[in-house]
Amino acid sequence: MNQKIFIKTFGCQMNEYDSNRIYDSVKKIGYEKTNNHEDANCYLINTCHIRDKAKEKVYHEVGRLKKIFRTKIKPLVIVAGCVAQAEHEEMINREPYIDLVLGPQAYHKINETILNYHIKKKKLEETEFDAISKFDYFSKIKNQTKKISSYLTIQEGCDKFCHFCVVPYTRGPEYSRPFVQVLDEAKHLIDNGSKEIILLGQNVNAYNFEGFKLSDLILELEKISGIERIRYTTSHPKDMTNDLIDVYKYSKKLMPLVHLPVQSGSDKVLELMNRKHTIKTYLEIFDKFKKINPKIKFSSDFIIAYPGETDIDFNETLKLIDNVKFINSFSFIFSPRPGTAASDLPVIDKKKTIERLELVQQKLFMNQLKINKSIENTIIDVLVENRTDDKSKLFGRSEYMTSVLFEGSDDFIGKVIKVKIQSSNQNTLFGEIIDQSNQRVA
Ligand code: SAM
Ligand code: SF4
Ligand code: F3S
Repeated sequence: MNQKIFIKTFGCQMNEYDSNRIYDSVKKIGYEKTNNHEDANCYLINTCHIRDKAKEKVYHEVGRLKKIFRTKIKPLVIVAGCVAQAEHEEMINREPYIDLVLGPQAYHKINETILNYHIKKKKLEETEFDAISKFDYFSKIKNQTKKISSYLTIQEGCDKFCHFCVVPYTRGPEYSRPFVQVLDEAKHLIDNGSKEIILLGQNVNAYNFEGFKLSDLILELEKISGIERIRYTTSHPKDMTNDLIDVYKYSKKLMPLVHLPVQSGSDKVLELMNRKHTIKTYLEIFDKFKKINPKIKFSSDFIIAYPGETDIDFNETLKLIDNVKFINSFSFIFSPRPGTAASDLPVIDKKKTIERLELVQQKLFMNQLKINKSIENTIIDVLVENRTDDKSKLFGRSEYMTSVLFEGSDDFIGKVIKVKIQSSNQNTLFGEIIDQSNQRVA
């Protein structure tokens, strides 16, 4: 079989990782990746259910597909990811253009499901939670990613059940991949040219495989020659234990940016959300990090206008942002998710909600802008990842994940180099490459 597959990925980094692993898997049954969706014999939509009208977006995407392929042979249409998990066979019943529905913990079955479909033409839904079999399967199929910065999922699922969140329902219970399996995959990625590994999990700092924790994993990864940078995301404040904080004392490769979603600055709202942490415990974590290395910065996620959030509660969030000076943060309007504890709570007036979002974003953006301005005329370390789409500049990232653009030759790709920052905007730093003696080199 010589077929082409196109995957459209929505959602978080874990979905991106999954899409890459699906490409690795279906290659074994003759499917090559195509970047041109019109060429595809198989079109897979990897969906996200976290906010908004997730389900409707999927049907809309299928409607778009129908138009694109009206005069062509219909591709095999697969819906995967978190909406697939939430909706099961309902998707096939509602939209006959969809052929297969596959939940995130059933991707190890993708090859046999496709082959079966080709033989029997029977529509199928696979949404069992079977993380062990999935990762066993994928550990046997090598990760073919050849990027300078690569994702590596080490943990999936969630047992915390924040009242707003669908993840425990779409990804299932917390599961940590075997320690050695993770190290093997990391080594393979490094052999393939990766320089940065970003460890992923819905609760990555809850990683615990037979007593081996995330701190152990980082210290072990650190020993692999060829790894330049290590990051991990997303963490929960409750699992930010001292052993993990202490790793920042010893590690030379762990980057000084901690993404630690707080969601709200009000203890009352945190309790309503079932977050299992308070602002006091959050700030204690922040202080511990600052004591180890004052260069460490925090980024966060915020949910705005959670049911019950008063003006006073909201002001607490603004106060927290002033206090911690987060960088690179995300803020979202509360979106009621079906099946969650908060799904039927009365939502806050739309006008007020938008006003609050704008105020939070203004503050976060100002912080980001100020931080970027303060970097101008300084020299920073940048891991060069690739060229910009128009090929005119090199693209890399600072230690804090900020995009950096500058001129230079392809020889720098994959290296950590010194860049002098000349100007900046909210999201990007612009500079020139500098050698050890502070001379311009490109
Ligand atoms: N596990 C992470 C944690 O506990 O912070 C979060 C993972 S979730 C995939 C990413 C972010 O989506 C959350 O931090 C939250 O801010 C946002 N989010 C989740 N459910 C939401 C909802 N119902 N409405 C708005 N934002 C939501
Ligand atoms: Fe969702 Fe994170 Fe809460 Fe789990 S800990 S329910 S993934 S927000
Ligand atoms: Fe979305 Fe599922 Fe990730 S709901 S954010 S794709 S875990």
